[in-house]
Amino acid sequence: MSGIFSYGKITDEIIDELKGKIGTNNVCADEEKLESYSRDEVPQSAYDREYRAALLVFPESTEHVSEVMKTASRERIPVTPRGAGTGLSGGALPAFGGIVMSFEKMNRILELDEANLTITTEPGVVTAEISRMAARHGLLYAGDPCSGDASFIGGNIAENAGGNKVIKYGATGAQLLALEVVLADGSVCWFGGKRRKDVTGLDFVHLMAGSEGVLAIITKAILRLMPAPRHSVDLLAAFPDAESAVAFVPQIIKEGGLIPASVEFIDRKALRLVASYLNTEIPAGDAGAALIIQLEENDAELLEREFEEIGKLSQSHGAYEVYVADTRGAKERIWQARKNVPEAVSAIYKRYTKEDLVVPTADVPALLELLNDTARSEGLECVAYGHVGDGNMHCTIISPECGDWHERLRAAQLRIYEKLVGMGGTLSGEHGIGYKRREYMKYFLDEAQLELIRRVKLAFDPQNILNPGKLVEWGE
Ligand code: MLT
Ligand code: ZN
Repeated sequence: MSGIFSYGKITDEIIDELKGKIGTNNVCADEEKLESYSRDEVPQSAYDREYRAALLVFPESTEHVSEVMKTASRERIPVTPRGAGTGLSGGALPAFGGIVMSFEKMNRILELDEANLTITTEPGVVTAEISRMAARHGLLYAGDPCSGDASFIGGNIAENAGGNKVIKYGATGAQLLALEVVLADGSVCWFGGKRRKDVTGLDFVHLMAGSEGVLAIITKAILRLMPAPRHSVDLLAAFPDAESAVAFVPQIIKEGGLIPASVEFIDRKALRLVASYLNTEIPAGDAGAALIIQLEENDAELLEREFEEIGKLSQSHGAYEVYVADTRGAKERIWQARKNVPEAVSAIYKRYTKEDLVVPTADVPALLELLNDTARSEGLECVAYGHVGDGNMHCTIISPECGDWHERLRAAQLRIYEKLVGMGGTLSGEHGIGYKRREYMKYFLDEAQLELIRRVKLAFDPQNILNPGKLVEWGE
């Protein structure tokens, strides 16, 4: 593996060459811009030092991406692809400097094919625009990350973003049919097509989902659509405590006999934080914990029967109040509480680590207990919220004080990870490994698997110029 991290420098000649290839306006070395394009939403305090790109490029086409990669591979220059910068794992951090490639100018939806139920987009399209375009045709794009109003579809694919509807529709990868990619040497190829079945060769489409920009650069995507359900309703069930709320989740499917579109969890502390951050009363604001349960049907009467049944069922399992939101305004009020938890945490606490842990769904109560006990024993606190329906909890460990908080957070993390492995859990469900979590990969994957990841990476990118420093450690 020696020599993998010896990279070339960006010279004035290279800058001129790139300007000639993709246009002067699409190449930038302005200091302020370099700074703002060299980070995502992971706070700087998570790292030992600052990382900075040496050059930004803003391709407008696949050809532009290909031309940049031809120069980068000839000169061994690292290239970090970047979406909207909403990432939560340092995936867009230029860990070895070099070029940051922003996709904000490749932002067109290219086609909506109603006959084949597909939508074809460039990577810089905001995810919510895809949903809105589909909805205008009576169709559903089922990917629904919490950051959907800001994040780009290219970033969603690179991280295999999950979000609120995974329990029913799967994560971003489940919506993917095909990708146009540019390989490290600048060559362009298509993986997959507008096909619902395909065993011709290896499944590179789904290898790309969650590959964090280390294998190839996504320049187009074909996503699946489906008929949009005609009616939906959101229930907000207030429980006296987290235990009873979480224990009810499997009963929605088992006793209720249906798969909801979403089951989201907000604990006591998170409810209080959001109310104080938004400076307003929120529904179930005084609860010990709350669940948001979203149901969808084409038949309005059937939906009504279902939500009444699920409402009663939740009460028989301890919910003391159930709010039913069937208008746009009421739904927004409920989701506002859930979607503002991460921002409330970042605004109110400066010392925290946002976790993205996953356990088998039946083990969520044990995970919450583990988190609270471990945090408490280190003099820390824990805020829990997330996608309880699929076992993916964003448990955020916070330190109300300064002092040795870094060491205590780390000690708590390591103890939690060790137990998590024993529970059949894993490190990240949707935020990714990126730069932030790669040192912890060794606790979850054995060396044979880590080595396999390195070998797959080198098969795609022998010089390790695509988003280097992410996903796995190389002993650097
Ligand atoms: C969420 O579910 O709210 C998102 O993944 C964002 C976050 O946890 O920060
Ligand atoms: Zn999430």
